[in-house]
Amino acid sequence: MDDSSTGPGAVIARIGIVSVSDRAARGEYEDRGGPAVEAYLRDVLTSPWEAAARVIPDEKELIQATLVELVDAVGCCLVIATGGTGPAPRDVTPEATAAVLEKELVGFGEAMRAVSRPHVPTAILSRQTAGVRGSALIITLPGSPKAVAECLDAVFAAVPDCVDLIGGPRLETDPDRVKAHRPH
Ligand code: MTE
Repeated sequence: MDDSSTGPGAVIARIGIVSVSDRAARGEYEDRGGPAVEAYLRDVLTSPWEAAARVIPDEKELIQATLVELVDAVGCCLVIATGGTGPAPRDVTPEATAAVLEKELVGFGEAMRAVSRPHVPTAILSRQTAGVRGSALIITLPGSPKAVAECLDAVFAAVPDCVDLIGGPRLETDPDRVKAHRPH
């Protein structure tokens, strides 16, 4: 039996976690978005993985460079960014992400906004999206720590199959938390 996702010698998936926030990067407040993403992944993923975490200001070039570094140099199969998706002048995460994606997966943003609307009327202000660069799936989330789990719950069942399809490692989930759908 192929037990490459959980047995000895299992591939350790690298997952990038990027907090995009001027104030968190300056140390004016504690970053809570990145830790919320990490807590979510600890809760849901049962296959081995390790985090590569970054906290950066809302600077388009720096966001692009960080996403490229995490995918191309660190070898992440999944990168989750939080913050900078709204309409304010410094919110540029979607533009920076679009610049490094090879394919946008618009269904992620649609699903996350649909789930978020009953929680907050301002959910429609988020331009959160996702897409593929090489063998990595990049997902952008709003900055609110509460939004992190709400949004990831809306899409995570499709994440392992997406990572399979783009040539990443096999990600396993706790079916009591998120039942991964793998039609391929
Ligand atoms: N989505 C969920 N699920 N929960 C939230 O609290 N906050 C909204 C929205 N989406 C929110 C949410 C708000 S107030 C804004 S301004 C946008 O996300 C964008 O947030 P960002 O600029 O921090 O990325």
